[in-house]
Amino acid sequence: MSTYGLQWNRFRIVREEEDRATFANRTGLRPGDLAGKDVLDGGCGMGRYLRLAGDARLAVGLDLSEAVLAARDLTAGMGNVAIVRGDLLRLPFAEGSFDHIYSIGVLDHTPDPRAAFLGLARLLKPGGRIAIWIYERESPVVERLMDAHRAVSTRLPLGLLLAMCRLAAPIGLLKRRLMASRWRLVERSGVALHALTIGVSMHPDAEVRVCDTLDWYAPKYLSRHTVEEVRGWFAEAGLVDVADLGVGQRFHHEGQGNGVNLAGRRPGAQ
Ligand SMILES: C[S@@+](CC[C@H](N)C(=O)[O-])C[C@H]1O[C@@H](n2cnc3c(N)ncnc32)[C@H](O)[C@@H]1O
Repeated sequence: MSTYGLQWNRFRIVREEEDRATFANRTGLRPGDLAGKDVLDGGCGMGRYLRLAGDARLAVGLDLSEAVLAARDLTAGMGNVAIVRGDLLRLPFAEGSFDHIYSIGVLDHTPDPRAAFLGLARLLKPGGRIAIWIYERESPVVERLMDAHRAVSTRLPLGLLLAMCRLAAPIGLLKRRLMASRWRLVERSGVALHALTIGVSMHPDAEVRVCDTLDWYAPKYLSRHTVEEVRGWFAEAGLVDVADLGVGQRFHHEGQGNGVNLAGRRPGAQ
């Protein structure tokens, strides 16, 4: 099984309040916006955000991995949902099929995020809207550190890596506590520990910490991008009304990961 197949079938993590907050933040969608619309979740994983598209006319979840099995289970009983196993780089849909497309934490896990984005943008109906979230590029030093860690972790047997992620989970909690300290020296030691273990999640929930840590160290592809670069993709796709959803956004919890979070619209009336 692929890394994502294992991740999303082992960790069928639904956190109602957090999922709704993250979905609203990262798509800019409000309740009712999807009512009666045709919607695509590009890279739905286990379907935690797909299941929030309950009032869409049609909500399609596309994913490359065996995560589709978990998504199918999670959305069972939702008559408007269809799950498709497929590749964002070889999209199995006709151009102009969707009113809304969102893709949360996915394009950066493909070998060609720009091509994957341009493919998704072509699926928009005139007036249709797309929102994406991908990891943001860090400073050169941090980038080198991340690459070095992942050069090792992505070569480890998946079972071993999962065991290591479980062992590392308390480090995430420790970092969180140190960084929250009002004593500067203690807080700084938390920051230093975080720099050395940057992929170890600080999520408040222990099970999610393990899942998120695996999500960082296991995938073969994990690229980081700048806002300017991604704005260039939106321009290339001919999208208008491009908005940076990340501006002023509050994290649901510390250490959620810095992202590039843009939305744009295909010209034309809906
Ligand atoms: C970090 S997970 C995010 C899943 C979901 N959007 C979420 O936030 O819960 C990334 C997902 O992208 C999927 N993926 C990676 N490359 C893909 C591709 N080329 N086509 C479709 N899905 C892909 C993986 O299978 C995985 O489920």
